[in-house]
Amino acid sequence: MSRKPFIAGNWKMNMTVASGKKLIEDLKPLVKDANCDVALCVPAILIPEMVKAAQGSSIHIGAENVHFADKGAYTGEISADMLKDYGVKYVIIGHSERRQYFAETDETVNKRTLTALNADLTPIVCVGETLSERENNETEKVLDRQLEVGLKGIEDLTKLVIAYEPVWAIGTGKTATDEQAQETIAYIRKKLGQLFCPNCAEKVIIQYGGSMNAANCKGLMAQPDIDGGLIGGASLKLDFATIVNFDK
Ligand code: 13P
Repeated sequence: MSRKPFIAGNWKMNMTVASGKKLIEDLKPLVKDANCDVALCVPAILIPEMVKAAQGSSIHIGAENVHFADKGAYTGEISADMLKDYGVKYVIIGHSERRQYFAETDETVNKRTLTALNADLTPIVCVGETLSERENNETEKVLDRQLEVGLKGIEDLTKLVIAYEPVWAIGTGKTATDEQAQETIAYIRKKLGQLFCPNCAEKVIIQYGGSMNAANCKGLMAQPDIDGGLIGGASLKLDFATIVNFDK
């Protein structure tokens, strides 16, 4: 199955115009021969300057969230059209930090995902279990719910990216083992096959995210169902280039 690997960074609430520009300038020559798609999802206010900085390179700039309404009285929110104004291609939806701190639910994930697809943005839909859910053997049940509700009504599954991010591995330095990540991502693919069609599930890019770094990326990327990474901390430094060049 030929799925093109996709490595994306998630800057979260980090970087400034100056430090972001410097990092992108430094990354450009290092990632120019990458055999994968590359994106950096950045804070909304940095998007215009980072798009400029990334011009002429293979780095796409993405967003970290999008509102589900086209426009209106939603103080502080950003619409799909506003992202498109700057040539944004990817948008992270349903990150566990938004679920944990900003009342994101599977239902709002679904609304945002449909809005993004309508606007021709590529959603990176995040799913994943907490530590207690894993310890209580609820991982599959949680993923089932996140996928069933979050992806309801989607017509073309291949237009989105899924990021499997076990909450217990995010920012903790505790990566899922290669086998744990492979096993769970294979489960997600099987579930997508049941919810949509096996053939489209085979085509969907599924990333792993959670303390992925320059040292462990090769092992994770060698797994048959892992097509890429969603990188937090390591996307704030040149290590990101090492991950992008995982196959060299
Ligand atoms: P870390 O790579 O810092 O664990 O973050 C992962 C993540 O949340 C990416 O979205």
